[in-house]
Amino acid sequence: SEARTYTITAIPADGVGQEVVDAGRTVLDALARESRGAFSFSWQELDWGSEYYAKHGRMMPEDGPDLVKDSEAIYFGAVGWPSVPDHVSLWGLRLRLCQGFDQWANIRPVTFLPGVESPLRRADSSDLDWVVVRENSEGEYAGFGGRNFAGRPGQGEVATQSAVFTEVGCERIIRFAFDLARTRRRKISSVTKSNAQQYGMVLWDDVFQRVARDYPDVETESVLVDAMSAKFILHPEDLDVVVASNLNADILSDLGSALAGSLGLASSANLNPERRFPSMFEPVHGSAPDIAGRGLCNPIGALGSAALMLDHLGLAAEGENLQQAIAETCRRGILTHDVGGTAMTREVTSAVIDHLQ
Ligand code: NAI
Ligand code: MG
Repeated sequence: SEARTYTITAIPADGVGQEVVDAGRTVLDALARESRGAFSFSWQELDWGSEYYAKHGRMMPEDGPDLVKDSEAIYFGAVGWPSVPDHVSLWGLRLRLCQGFDQWANIRPVTFLPGVESPLRRADSSDLDWVVVRENSEGEYAGFGGRNFAGRPGQGEVATQSAVFTEVGCERIIRFAFDLARTRRRKISSVTKSNAQQYGMVLWDDVFQRVARDYPDVETESVLVDAMSAKFILHPEDLDVVVASNLNADILSDLGSALAGSLGLASSANLNPERRFPSMFEPVHGSAPDIAGRGLCNPIGALGSAALMLDHLGLAAEGENLQQAIAETCRRGILTHDVGGTAMTREVTSAVIDHLQ
């Protein structure tokens, strides 16, 4: 039968983003080879990022999203380099794609891998795993606000930065999280700071309570974000699906991946659940300028993101195969330096390929 070809856009961008996307492509192409002609990947690689900015004065071409919109998924590295202000690089590339393609659900699993030591006391890889569902289209990252009065004598500049919460935006991410909980352990924790932020986050809480009535089989709790950060450490066994606004979920997912052993382990999917636009898969970490270019960064966050992409493309068995190969590689102690090992990026990558079924 005809081989199915998936068109994927790779945007490695900056720093270790280039190294981990290279690792992910190597693993995905190995999976395709082992499918014996069942499927393959056709890659479109784009050189957008901070080097592109140095040449062209922007992070991607004006019509960048048009060049990407027909691919079936985007495989993204990390954006940001000391040569470009962080808000320019983030808004000019990553947030422009997330918002332009209405990738409103950001899924960030926290997986405790065998062979990786967690800083949590009593952590046991067999019974800890949860997923952070991040609202990815509005909230604190809506970009509302401005800077005024620069140079006004005697008073100085004023900046406002407003968070935006819409009923539609809250409802779709909360429903998404409830549906996900039904495929897992049927427990959902909603995180806000509605005691202090009395408009947007109280709307979120109201929507959460209303939607919860449609899911009587799912256990619910509402937790303030500061208490939740303590709970991540003290009672991680209580967590299954954690749904939170853009900023709070961003912070909590870094905390979760550090508890699992390293930021280099954490994977993420930016989904457009309606599939009108391509979804984007990327490690949670940034460009890691402190270790970039030395071949020693951890590729597992990017490889786990590749597994999430396989799932999204309808290749669920291949995604599971890749997750198992990642776990087996860690179990055997083939680990990069950030999780206490001595292996290079390329050695972890080939070990994962060797452990594919
Ligand atoms: P970072 O995630 O790049 O690095 C934080 C720490 O984690 C560093 O010590 C780094 O060495 C380590 N680390 C990160 N990835 C690793 C990996 N794969 N293997 C081993 N160790 C790893 O965050 P940082 O330093 O705050 O930001 C650096 C740049 O990345 C900034 O320009 C920032 O704006 C950008 N950034 C981009 C993101 C994205 O594209 N999604 C997310 C976070 C930051
Ligand atoms: Mg982050």
